[in-house]
Amino acid sequence: MTGKLLGYLAKLTAGVPNEGAFSTGIANLEPCRLRGHPADHLTVEFGGENQVLYRLKKFLFRLGLRIWSGPWYPNIYVMIHSVHLPRAVYVAAELGIADLLKERAYSIGELAQVTQTDERSLYRIMRLLAAYDVFAEDRGRVFGLAKHGKTLLSDDPESSRWWVLSLGDELWKSNSEILESVRTGKTGFEIAHGERVWSWYPKHPREHDIFIKGMNGFTRMHCQELVRAFDFSRFNEVVDVGGGGGGLICEILKANPGLNGVLFDQPRTIDEEGRGRIESMGLSHRCEAVGGNFLEALPEGADAYLFKHVLRDWDDQGVRTMLGNCRKAMPENGTLLIVDAVVNPANGTDRLVKLIDVQMMVDAGGGLRTLSEFEQIFADTGFEIVKIHKTMSLDADIIEAKPIRRPVDESAAAQNKRPEAKRPESEREVVQGAAGRI
Ligand SMILES: C[S@@+](CC[C@H](N)C(=O)[O-])C[C@H]1O[C@@H](n2cnc3c(N)ncnc32)[C@H](O)[C@@H]1O
Repeated sequence: MTGKLLGYLAKLTAGVPNEGAFSTGIANLEPCRLRGHPADHLTVEFGGENQVLYRLKKFLFRLGLRIWSGPWYPNIYVMIHSVHLPRAVYVAAELGIADLLKERAYSIGELAQVTQTDERSLYRIMRLLAAYDVFAEDRGRVFGLAKHGKTLLSDDPESSRWWVLSLGDELWKSNSEILESVRTGKTGFEIAHGERVWSWYPKHPREHDIFIKGMNGFTRMHCQELVRAFDFSRFNEVVDVGGGGGGLICEILKANPGLNGVLFDQPRTIDEEGRGRIESMGLSHRCEAVGGNFLEALPEGADAYLFKHVLRDWDDQGVRTMLGNCRKAMPENGTLLIVDAVVNPANGTDRLVKLIDVQMMVDAGGGLRTLSEFEQIFADTGFEIVKIHKTMSLDADIIEAKPIRRPVDESAAAQNKRPEAKRPESEREVVQGAAGRI
């Protein structure tokens, strides 16, 4: 009996690192498991509860020992109240609290004075964030930086501060229009700001700069992994389409000394950010910075075209237009590389990815796509998937595609049928294996 009990306890405490978002108590009796993807547990650990303890509580609850299992709270309330967490992180980012705490700890009185805020209100924000390891409170209401707070430091090249500011300011306003967005199919951004996000940003330089810095920090987080997961050295020239401030193309070129690159984005982004970065990295001789509109035309003749986290900003029609332009610009033996998540639609999976999908819906009118949605859009634009290269980044797998070798079947075209993406069976397995990963 004791052996059996110990065996069961061992099973409970082994294996899956986290059983789901928002797990703060035993009310989460059967949260869906996150299967497979090694990074998932890092990103959905909302409740932050020790998993050994959590499983033990669950076990005790099953035995009917409710008194021992500690307090609980129904999951739906945890989800609802968690809305204050991003708001609190935003307040801290806007007030620059992490930067203040970089050198030394501050008492709440000092913090309130320096940031010109109400001491009691600020204390409550700090106490909440200390509960989530952003800051750490010591005796006498003195605060220092904790592990998550360090990512808010402005001078960290991977800083999340700018992204937090964008999400907490103009993009938060899109969120508050979510119901209207669902009712009308418009983006929340359009409803809140009166125009679509990509035409609004260039007219609002302060917010645009913060957004680009935010994307840079976010992208730097992925760079190493993307460069590791894919061999770019087999190409002569890569165009990074919608490449933002150029962080990724510069890293790819640094890691592949024989490669040339083109950074392609809206003219303002290229002028304000991209060109300067290429110069400062000493890559001007190998990397051109081109301003333009990917809905109109792309630079021609490169053997690889990379779209990182771009397709998710656009509805299917927009994506068809940009990929159609890409197909026209690339040679027959060119390669298309899409960096994005492949959504697993199954219940209980891909939670963070599905949260990001809703963010895309309200901000940009796009969304994250499943494998069959990608396949259809590729088929519509004359591509077929060759392989999905998995990475350790939660929402940044690399989908490699080629122009369909045979030109569009003319008899099918004549009958107005869509050409179907054709892949050998063995390749199909690779792709399905990747999509079923989570
Ligand atoms: C979500 S950001 C991705 C940036 C970059 N690929 C990254 O992952 O860091 C989308 C990018 O698309 C660019 N963009 C939007 N509309 C565009 C257009 N019509 N033509 C060219 N670039 C555009 C934006 O300026 C922005 O840099």
